[in-house]
Amino acid sequence: MKHVYIETMGCQMNKSDTERMLGMLSHFDYEETKDPEKADLLMVNTCSIRQLSEDKAFSQLGVWGKWKQDRNPDLKIGMCGCVAQQKARQVFSRAPYVDFVLGTHKIYSLPDVIKRINNGERVCECEETNLPSQNPENYEINRVKSTNAWINITEGCNNFCTYCIVPYTRGRERSRLPETIIKEVKDALNAGFKEITLLGQNVDSYGKDFKDKNYRLADLLRELNSIEGKFRIRFVTSYPTDITDELIETAKELDKVCEYFHIPMQSGNSEVLKAMNRRYDRETYAKIVKKVRDMIPDVTITSDFIAGFPGETEEQFEDTLTAIDEFELDYCNVAAYSPREKTVAARWVDKFIPEDIKNERFQRLNDKVKENCLKSNLKYLGREMEVLVENFYEHKGQMINTGKTRNFKTVHIPCDTDLTGQFVNVKISGAKTWYIKAVLCT
Ligand code: SAH
Ligand code: SF4
Ligand code: F3S
Repeated sequence: MKHVYIETMGCQMNKSDTERMLGMLSHFDYEETKDPEKADLLMVNTCSIRQLSEDKAFSQLGVWGKWKQDRNPDLKIGMCGCVAQQKARQVFSRAPYVDFVLGTHKIYSLPDVIKRINNGERVCECEETNLPSQNPENYEINRVKSTNAWINITEGCNNFCTYCIVPYTRGRERSRLPETIIKEVKDALNAGFKEITLLGQNVDSYGKDFKDKNYRLADLLRELNSIEGKFRIRFVTSYPTDITDELIETAKELDKVCEYFHIPMQSGNSEVLKAMNRRYDRETYAKIVKKVRDMIPDVTITSDFIAGFPGETEEQFEDTLTAIDEFELDYCNVAAYSPREKTVAARWVDKFIPEDIKNERFQRLNDKVKENCLKSNLKYLGREMEVLVENFYEHKGQMINTGKTRNFKTVHIPCDTDLTGQFVNVKISGAKTWYIKAVLCT
């Protein structure tokens, strides 16, 4: 038996790819190790959303390259994920100790790539495809043991927001077939998972590319909801203008679909949104969020924002701060703008915002998010809610169970019994910025 270690960076797409790659490798006598020092094969699954994440990938490879040089010339090293897809052969000149580069479109070539590198070849597999990736041998997926299984339903993106590299690293949008997804969901439920999160850059455009059928996210949700058993369904990420009334109604009506929407806005200012090539303005976003809130009681709505997009003025930035308040966004991921190769906005060098201003805006955005997160958590004081317990550990000298409500609030429940994997009813007793406290209902 050989050992493989995969360092996974970036979003759930990469985490899901890692689980698939570990599943494939298990058929070729590779067992996962959590200790890179014990591995025969080291892989970094990379993210290129910001410069920092790309730099992190190369510095990780640098450390492993040194191990190979100093103590184990037989060590095999591979780069996969979004940086691999984008840089392809260029990786070899920057990191000559790398044995293979595997793009996001080619993860199912991994078994072949491993055979070839073990024969002394250096391999780059990065060609784009316009088909959803196929698991030719039905290799099982080596899912991380938890309560939640992430299942991707679309790959790629067609939106070309001017700041974003994803359309270049993940290709055009492809929907996976409903029957493939349903089988994966059933397998995960049979393996004991209690929550299914459907994943895509824009889950709400699922099925737009099917030529032979009219089958969209709402249809998929209905089919999944009818699978027997107690479990929850979530879906992320929603592109604001692809959220149809039918989707909101379906989400409301189906008992397993949770009250949670992640709807990235990116900026609160309409002119900046236009420069970002987002297909909505502040007013349109407001209407969509209002509709979701009006139709689904207790819904949690989270978002993403970028600080310091090229040309963003102080006034335009303030529109982002007011948007978070006005739309009562429960939590937001925030980032300082990072220019990315090939993207349109990266060419607007003369409009770049100085680093110090960008970082100061980023900080103010963070403060606003914290403030609103606490406000949102306080709304639930005294309420009874259902929690799916995900973890059991010691926290400040006390044993606690932690988990999520249907509407994606993190809950801490003091209790000496491990309830991991169970649905429990709790009463909310306190609110902090990042979580709420609760006691078990008797
Ligand atoms: N498909 C999702 C986002 C995927 S990328 C959507 O359309 O909203 C995840 C997040 O990374 C984005 O929402 C954006 O806020 C951030 N991001 C993407 N490119 C970035 C860049 N060049 N600089 C800073 N943040 C970026
Ligand atoms: Fe990137 Fe825009 Fe596609 Fe989201 S919708 S992945 S931000 S290009
Ligand atoms: Fe995800 Fe990063 Fe790629 S956010 S899609 S791993 S660029």
